[in-house]
Amino acid sequence: MSTKWWQNEIVYQIYPRSFQDTNHDGIGDIQGMIDHLDYIQELGVTMIWVSPIYKSPMVDMGYDIADYQDIDPQFGSLDEFKVFLSEAKKRHIKVIMDLVVNHTSDQHEWFKQALADPKSKYRDYFIFKTTDDGDVPNNWRSIFGGSTWEPVADEPNTFYFHTFAPQQPDLNWENPALRQEIYQMINWWLELGVAGFRVDAITHLKKDLDWASLPADGSDGLVSVIKKGQNRPGIDVFLNELKQETFDKYDAITVGEAYGVPEKDLKKYIGPNGYFSMIFDFSYMNIDVLNTDEWYRGRSQWTVKDLREALFESQQVAGQVHGTLANVLENHDQPRVLSKLVPDKHDQTPTAAKALATMYYFLPGVPFIYQGQEIGMKNFVRKDISEFNDVSSINNYQMALKDGYSKESALASINDKSRDNARVPMQWNDSKFAGFSDTEPWLGMGNDREGIDVQTELADENSVLNYYKKLGQLHHDLAWQSVTTTGDFQPIDSLPENVIGYQRILDGQVLTVFVNLSHELAEFDAHNVGDRLEKVGDITIDNDHVKMAGYSAVVMGLNAN
Ligand code: NOJ
Repeated sequence: MSTKWWQNEIVYQIYPRSFQDTNHDGIGDIQGMIDHLDYIQELGVTMIWVSPIYKSPMVDMGYDIADYQDIDPQFGSLDEFKVFLSEAKKRHIKVIMDLVVNHTSDQHEWFKQALADPKSKYRDYFIFKTTDDGDVPNNWRSIFGGSTWEPVADEPNTFYFHTFAPQQPDLNWENPALRQEIYQMINWWLELGVAGFRVDAITHLKKDLDWASLPADGSDGLVSVIKKGQNRPGIDVFLNELKQETFDKYDAITVGEAYGVPEKDLKKYIGPNGYFSMIFDFSYMNIDVLNTDEWYRGRSQWTVKDLREALFESQQVAGQVHGTLANVLENHDQPRVLSKLVPDKHDQTPTAAKALATMYYFLPGVPFIYQGQEIGMKNFVRKDISEFNDVSSINNYQMALKDGYSKESALASINDKSRDNARVPMQWNDSKFAGFSDTEPWLGMGNDREGIDVQTELADENSVLNYYKKLGQLHHDLAWQSVTTTGDFQPIDSLPENVIGYQRILDGQVLTVFVNLSHELAEFDAHNVGDRLEKVGDITIDNDHVKMAGYSAVVMGLNAN
């Protein structure tokens, strides 16, 4: 397997708004990110992904960009960002930005010009359509609900297209001039010293140009935009060009948010000459819901077997194309993993958080840690929809009511799945605002946080935080680094149904991981697994017989060299 400069990275995702406020406005900022670089470094982290800090009206919390080359004053300034870059560099930490080029904000200068003057060159930077009868051009449903078409004020029968919220007009990638502007902007950031990008919503760049309606798939008479605007034929032209004109020139690292890539196309995405360095493994991200766009439809009855199969299948398929996956338990779009993958509240313990960490940390690919995951943060429970900020949570709630669900059941689904679960302020200590801010934060604090904060956990050698540090050390341990990074992946079959087990194998070295993801005792035999490198919970191994208490995990290492 070829080696890449980024293959040993451990990545930490900062959601700046909720990380650390230093200027007393209840919103996190760049100075707050600078202040915690030592903390991040101690986790073994070598790269930081910064969620959008560009100028934005924040309808979708920065994923609606009004100026690609400026920092929103809520977060600080470009100069402060440069300080962040150089302070990170001193600690051997690279920085990747979030690249959101499927759409802008409706407050972007290009879009304002496109509206102000239909003859301006910017009109064709976006997607406008006029219909004869004043009906919307087709029945596609946007990801956040409702039609993908928004009427243009003062222009009868005219609409613009948006895959996400109406305030996020899609860019028209069919236009070569637009593409060139985007490439220049990307290269400007790379010149500034960022190591690469997490690439947002990238499989949406190409839409079917017949713009044809399809049979409805919901009671609203609409059909999900993903059927006509995700991974559509022709997207390869855009993605190849994007790579050649930008990333390749700088040997940049890119992590695609690439929902819906069919197995047959995976090679094009992450094979040796793929569009991206890696893409996120989302195979099990939405295992907890029946429908990923309409969460209100309820939770799925997933099993550990389903989770194991999803995890292993994506690793095996990625291995076949010699591609790398970005391994994630959490991000800013998902509930907290402890709440999601541990169904019984009583089991949502620090031990379970550590077991989950063990499960994904040694998979082939690059581990990503989302802020707060490393201390075992959990979901919150809100009593009223007014306590939510996230545009998609609020839309889902409204859709549920329209669909006849009661307020209680709509709220219960939103509490379970809302993106705000991950967006509550980071818990640095046990004070009122958790050391995040000294004033009321922009989003309410989590309400299940006793014992779950950095200060408390630093003082406890058995804490989730200290366990993540140990995992970081093991990941970088020179004795095991090669096998962790490039070892073959081998699932272990014939284990009890709630145990996930796999091996990484390279030149006589074998790393074995067992995780019991249930509260029941699990027993099985395991041969030639070597010595214990890390352990979570009660585990005995006697004459090759393994006994694992509920929510326990172990990493074993065998070195025949
Ligand atoms: C994916 C981002 O992670 C999410 O937060 C955002 O709402 C959409 N893309 C639209 O940019």
